[in-house]
Amino acid sequence: MAHPPAPRFPVAVLVSGSGSNLQAIINAAADPAYAADIVAVISDRPGVRALDRASAAAIPTAVVAWKDFADRAAFSNAICDAAQAHGAEALILAGFMRILAPNAIARFPNKILNTHPALLPAFPGAHAVPEAIAHGVKLTGVTIHFVDEEVDHGPIIRQVAVPIEPGDTEATLQSRIQAEEHRVYPEVIDAFARGRLKVAGRAVSWKELV
Ligand code: GAR
Repeated sequence: MAHPPAPRFPVAVLVSGSGSNLQAIINAAADPAYAADIVAVISDRPGVRALDRASAAAIPTAVVAWKDFADRAAFSNAICDAAQAHGAEALILAGFMRILAPNAIARFPNKILNTHPALLPAFPGAHAVPEAIAHGVKLTGVTIHFVDEEVDHGPIIRQVAVPIEPGDTEATLQSRIQAEEHRVYPEVIDAFARGRLKVAGRAVSWKELV
């Protein structure tokens, strides 16, 4: 007798822009063996390509517009409310360009993931790719981490190095960084959804599957 499929872990993906990382997660989740289920895609602004990608995949969308809220705490609460209204138990930040207030971290402790286009703690913030080129570093990359109260600071789950080549522009480097993000972020989300990531202070370990 066939076993019924295991229930998938419900996540909301937070976006602000093109949504190429969202697309990589949608593509991975098309496999029934993938452990996470995208129950909602939430944007801080209307009209972005990521929302079209979600609709094309028949995933519910919500816009929680930054400009509609008096402050970061109210905005962050509304993001969490929208995610929980869809049954999400974790937030996956995928090109989400807003900082969540501490109330969101408290509502989803060790349940918010982010991908950042640099090897943190180098080059935090919204301009990591051009800053790495301007600084002349030879290696940059991708950091996937849990989100805590400080910007681009939480416990690091996985990093991938990407060399900066002579003649790289922001566009060429970003495209090589994103190719790595698209490969590893869906894998990390699957491991997280299976309960394989253990956090102790700043250290994250990966439990083996039994
Ligand atoms: C991604 O490369 C992500 O690492 C970066 O924005 C891009 C969004 O692309 N995030 C940050 O810089 C956060 N500080 P996408 O919308 O095509 O996934």
